[in-house]
Amino acid sequence: MKIGAFDSGKGGVAILDAIKKLLPNEEYSYIADSKNCPYGEKSDAELYEIVTHNTKQLQDWGAEIIVIACNTATTKCIDRLREDFPTLHFVGTEPAVKLAVNYGAKDILVLATPGTIKSEHLQNIIHENQDPSRKIKLLACPGLADAIEFDQDIDAVLQNLLTDVKEPEVVVIGCTHYSLIKDKLQSYFPHAKLIDGNNVVANQVKTLAEKLHSK
Ligand code: DGL
Repeated sequence: MKIGAFDSGKGGVAILDAIKKLLPNEEYSYIADSKNCPYGEKSDAELYEIVTHNTKQLQDWGAEIIVIACNTATTKCIDRLREDFPTLHFVGTEPAVKLAVNYGAKDILVLATPGTIKSEHLQNIIHENQDPSRKIKLLACPGLADAIEFDQDIDAVLQNLLTDVKEPEVVVIGCTHYSLIKDKLQSYFPHAKLIDGNNVVANQVKTLAEKLHSK
């Protein structure tokens, strides 16, 4: 079975690697769309055009499963993609707030792109996990994904973004690019648990691929 994945560059590669570990015998295509990075600062219309183009490309290469290895593209576009490409099977990546809640965290900070933070999809996730005993804060991180993609001064961006941010119990890494700098993020939040959704996505792809194989 052919599995296609895309992101605005190298962020989604860790997800692809996690999927390959679980499903070593499938065929893979990956679009590292760095020419359109950052997705998180595009308008809805621009981003939808970009993700449609990537999806068509992966479909032309024979993909049956499309992994959106990007929180921004998932939270802003997955519902419409499912409507517009009904024969494809989409698996998305979304901020792992549920995992943080299951971990028992009472004080959660979600780091994500401006696009993800503003999305209705994330608002719904927050709403579902809202509880009077729990604090969930959202922090949009403009400039961070592109600093990572293009090897710019990441510390300068982080220092600027994280001044005055109190260390939470759990940091949800809500952008696949930010997972690539997990160690650096940990140094800014030395006592917090850092959580991303990469393995959740890989497991969902495995379940879906096994289901499609058994048909
Ligand atoms: N890596 C993507 C995400 O998970 C997008 C980063 C960007 O291009 O803004 O949100």
